[in-house]
Amino acid sequence: MPRAKISIIGAGNVGATCAHWAAAKELGDIVLVDIPDKVGVAQGKALDLSCSAPIERFDSEIIGTADYKDTEGSDVVIVTAGIPRKPGMSRDDLIATNVKIVKSVSEQIATHAPDSIVIVVANPLDAMVYTAWKTTGFPTNRIVGQAGCLDVARFRHFIADAIGVSIEDVQALLLGGHGDDMVPLPRYTSVHGIPVHQLLDDKTINACVDRAKAGGGEIVKLMGSSAYYAPASGSVQMAEAIIKDKKRILPCAAYCDAEYGVGGYFVGVPCILGANGVEQIIQIDLDTDEQALMDESVSHVKDLVGVVQETFPELV
Ligand code: NAI
Ligand code: 2OP
Repeated sequence: MPRAKISIIGAGNVGATCAHWAAAKELGDIVLVDIPDKVGVAQGKALDLSCSAPIERFDSEIIGTADYKDTEGSDVVIVTAGIPRKPGMSRDDLIATNVKIVKSVSEQIATHAPDSIVIVVANPLDAMVYTAWKTTGFPTNRIVGQAGCLDVARFRHFIADAIGVSIEDVQALLLGGHGDDMVPLPRYTSVHGIPVHQLLDDKTINACVDRAKAGGGEIVKLMGSSAYYAPASGSVQMAEAIIKDKKRILPCAAYCDAEYGVGGYFVGVPCILGANGVEQIIQIDLDTDEQALMDESVSHVKDLVGVVQETFPELV
């Protein structure tokens, strides 16, 4: 069987770390793409990672390039190209710059990797997934955004930490956009099947919810730049589900129309991810409060997409 091929656009912190996790999992051959000015960085990181193969024991070819021809035949393309936020910035502050970058990258993907499944990571995430969809013209099952895998991992980490149990036993669900109004769902959070409310009081659960929502900002404040280990881990979790056709249920930014009453936007919902990308969106029951939080989050996503449409009317 031929190896899968994963192209990662942007060889910065998130992109290079995606390459690291993907190589460690031996998911396939990896192409790390950056702009011509940074091609040396892409090539250097690819070579450095390749030299770890004898120790880590993976057989993946890893190259760095600025030439999109090298992405031909990609099964999965992960788009991390874009500026990250600095202290004091919100994800939304990145929109003017990143919509241009994601649009130009998406044009290249449509030309050189027309059969790929695209995982968008650049922020503001939900608006960048929309940009990639409109630019590539790919069917909605082949355009998906990474945010929920990261956000729910943060939530699970804080819950496991609060109880003092293995992270392996904590399952959780999270909906909505990748903003501070994302919607972690304690009612759908359990620890080895035990509802979390039987193990933690409301105050502690709410503190975990708040910390997950602000998790990206907490890290930016600490280190002066954006997170990348867990964001890359979430992105590669999605790539693995697609490449291995695992049919995993993961929270992803997927195109929702009637689902959750979204009306034609990409927002975080539980999806079945497999060889065809987003194979199904799973609709869960929400109570009135949960639906209100989801509606608020979706309305924020709509505002952001409105900004994209104002900047580039051709993306309407
Ligand atoms: P970074 O600055 O370390 O890397 C970005 C890379 O993209 C740079 O190497 C840059 O040269 C490259 N780039 C810029 N324009 C390009 C183009 N046209 N073609 C190819 N490469 C291009 O930034 P970092 O930390 O890797 O973050 C990347 C993006 O991911 C940011 O927008 C950040 O906000 C977002 N992010 C999203 C997360 C999520 O959960 N969705 C989590 C963490 C970051
Ligand atoms: C994060 O949540 C910045 O979106 C990025 O860490």
